[in-house]
Amino acid sequence: MEENKEQQVVSLPRIGDPAPEFKAVTTQGDINFPADYKGSWVILFSHPADFTPVCTSEFMTFATMEDQFAEANCKLVGLSVDGLYSHIAWLRTIKEKIEYKGMKDVEVTFPLIEDITMNVAKKYGMIQPNEDTTKAVRAVFFIDPKGIVRSMIYYPLSLGRNFDELYRALIAMKAADEFGVATPADWRPGDDVIIGPAGSCGTAKERMEDSDIDCKDWFFCTKKLDKDEVLSKVLKK
Ligand code: BEZ
Repeated sequence: MEENKEQQVVSLPRIGDPAPEFKAVTTQGDINFPADYKGSWVILFSHPADFTPVCTSEFMTFATMEDQFAEANCKLVGLSVDGLYSHIAWLRTIKEKIEYKGMKDVEVTFPLIEDITMNVAKKYGMIQPNEDTTKAVRAVFFIDPKGIVRSMIYYPLSLGRNFDELYRALIAMKAADEFGVATPADWRPGDDVIIGPAGSCGTAKERMEDSDIDCKDWFFCTKKLDKDEVLSKVLKK
């Protein structure tokens, strides 16, 4: 039995792939994914099970941040292998009964997919048999307005996600797209960004003369990028 588990092949979409398509029933009606989300970023994320504590803390946190993600033109879609009536009962319980870290009366208004057949979870590699054969791991897929998978993060069942990091990653990817730059470790809007090699981004001489560019060595150059300029480009877009 254990051996069979290990041999199961998990198919994962990869960065740069079109997001696998599916139709699903959700707490907000039927969806056709990713077609219904064309023109927006969307975060598709899975949780192991309704009526569990880590997932409850995550849903309360994500729902509280939904407007912040919406401002960055990003929609949220949840999924677990529970059924629709379980989802509805759990979300109602969260709203009516759960108070956690100052959050209360939290209404989850983004769609939560029912996936009792595990069809969607399997397409997205959310069932990872050596972690659990009957529950989805905590997967996060960032899908861009053209329906392309741009990033994915997986967490085990016991580890609640950091939603500030998900927001930071979204803004960083959007900034990289807008300004043709890369973002260094722990980057946040207002921090310096990384530019490509000389030739791709000004000649070596132009760079030397540009006081906004700081080259630590030939392979590592950063430049200033104003926080307001970043935010004005990446929000509402
Ligand atoms: C939780 O959300 O608390 C949880 C769910 C499945 C396994 C472990 C923890």
